[in-house]
Amino acid sequence: MRILLKVWRQAGPRAEGRFADYAVDDVSPDMSFLEMLDVVNEGLIVKGDDPIAFDSDCREGICGACGFVINGVAHGPDPGTTVCQLHMRRFNDGDRVILEPWRAKAFPLVKDLVVDRSALDRIIQAGGYTAVNVGGAQDANAILIPRPTVERAMDAAACIGCGACVAACKNASAALFTSAKVSHLALLPQGQVERSARVVAMVGRHDHEGFGSCSNEGECEAVCPKEISITNIARMNREYFRAMFLSRE
Ligand code: SF4
Ligand code: FES
Repeated sequence: MRILLKVWRQAGPRAEGRFADYAVDDVSPDMSFLEMLDVVNEGLIVKGDDPIAFDSDCREGICGACGFVINGVAHGPDPGTTVCQLHMRRFNDGDRVILEPWRAKAFPLVKDLVVDRSALDRIIQAGGYTAVNVGGAQDANAILIPRPTVERAMDAAACIGCGACVAACKNASAALFTSAKVSHLALLPQGQVERSARVVAMVGRHDHEGFGSCSNEGECEAVCPKEISITNIARMNREYFRAMFLSRE
């Protein structure tokens, strides 16, 4: 296949950005999207040009490192799929494909398609952990938890922190990410001791980092590669109101 790429190129945070065009020939439908970009970069390096910067690590949809906008959709056209799991068979010969970085105030651009997502790490640092002793693996097995609760907690814990939800949201809100992290601990017995302090600290950090508020648009859920449900945002709001109520007692 021949693919016509239009890629956002920006040398650094303060440099002026622009779209650059690349015609890519001999693209195999069996290539992953990132393998296709690897081939483009090999060609650029051979010509002495600067390769296109993009993030990746596991390339199997579990680490959250990859992610950019493909033809206006975060992570591209396949639902529930990270960029690294997207394959070129999803495209047609002669397609024009436009690549842009996540665009959000809280994700400053580093270079080309790479943005700094450390704001999500700082939300986790604010409270996405248990600091009390919850025992070892055998204790987890000894504490019986209803199956539906375990399933809901596991579904929330599937968030890989990629930031697509922020990129898709018109408010650049990280509510889906934060709510997934709040939910998976709030649902489990091991998360109860720090339950109130956690949600207050994490929501406070979310706002401090410059993410916007949730206005229930649902774009986050639509692009999330792990199909995290926006019902987690409702749970986070309930957790927050509960914490506020208890703090006034
Ligand atoms: S909620 Fe989904 S889109 Fe948002 S960071 Fe987690 S995995 Fe990525
Ligand atoms: S590179 Fe790890 S999720 Fe895509």
